[in-house]
Amino acid sequence: MMWFNIAKAQSFMPTQATEIAKQVDNLYGFLLITSLIACVLVIGGMIYFVWKYRRRTPNDKTAYISHNTFLEFLWSFIPLVIFLAVFVWGWYIYHEMRSMPKNALEINVLGKQWAWEVEYKNGYKTVNEVVVPIDQDVKLILSSNDVIHSFFVPSFRIKQDAVPGRYTALWFRANKLGEFHIFCTEYCGTSHSGMIGKLKVVSREDFDKYLEVGQEERNLPLAKKGEKLFAVKACASCHSVNSPATMVGPSLFQKFGHEEEMNDGTKIKFDENYIRESILEPNKHVVKGFQGGIMPTFQGQINENELNALVEYIKELK
Ligand code: CUA
Repeated sequence: MMWFNIAKAQSFMPTQATEIAKQVDNLYGFLLITSLIACVLVIGGMIYFVWKYRRRTPNDKTAYISHNTFLEFLWSFIPLVIFLAVFVWGWYIYHEMRSMPKNALEINVLGKQWAWEVEYKNGYKTVNEVVVPIDQDVKLILSSNDVIHSFFVPSFRIKQDAVPGRYTALWFRANKLGEFHIFCTEYCGTSHSGMIGKLKVVSREDFDKYLEVGQEERNLPLAKKGEKLFAVKACASCHSVNSPATMVGPSLFQKFGHEEEMNDGTKIKFDENYIRESILEPNKHVVKGFQGGIMPTFQGQINENELNALVEYIKELK
């Protein structure tokens, strides 16, 4: 649309998923283009004059020019106007970014080494996942458990430090459905680079459903949560849970507390640690009579809470 939208047209910028993102990019594009023009004028002018006024003979003398009022006015006045415009423009966007809208949906986000803990108004908690409805003002109230973290969503062009001992906030209004990255942009220790989350923008109905299901799940007993997960993660397609009959994988029926014989002849006690290891590193030990390499690892795909729920469920398969 506008000529400085060139920065937006380039694929090196992340998706624009908020109105603010567009405004930020427009200003950025303007700065980029004006800097480029200034750079070409200054460097180009310099090269041109170096060439034009080069010394031709040893007695060469250049005309003595003390000043040029018109030129001096131009190169002072034009940059002044540009700088003032950038100041007002930037101030306007900054002001909009920092003025928290009333009636925004509030979500608490706690940064800790090294994850984002998200808590909704109804008490539902998630880790590294923020789900928000589209076209709705959302205010994130940030705090930190330990050191300074920084909450950054590139596609929204928003970034805010999460500081221990105080609250900070940011707001956004997503106008695109989809999944966007959350990064921690303040070095906070060993796994700083792994402090990555997802921000999902969903429809109003999906958001309400998400909270409802989350609330229900929160109230379930641990073993019940495990049972649900067992179904969701499709564990049941390879492991039977209500009879000793073997499928692709060994049955989990009445196994807890007993010893399991491995392919290499060793025996391992079927306890909490064994279940945990079998989920995270399924091919470390292979149960006698089965082939290794079939079950995929769930490392990084389920969190500690989910792991606990699964262990509890498998424990109770009596
Ligand atoms: Cu948290 Cu870097």
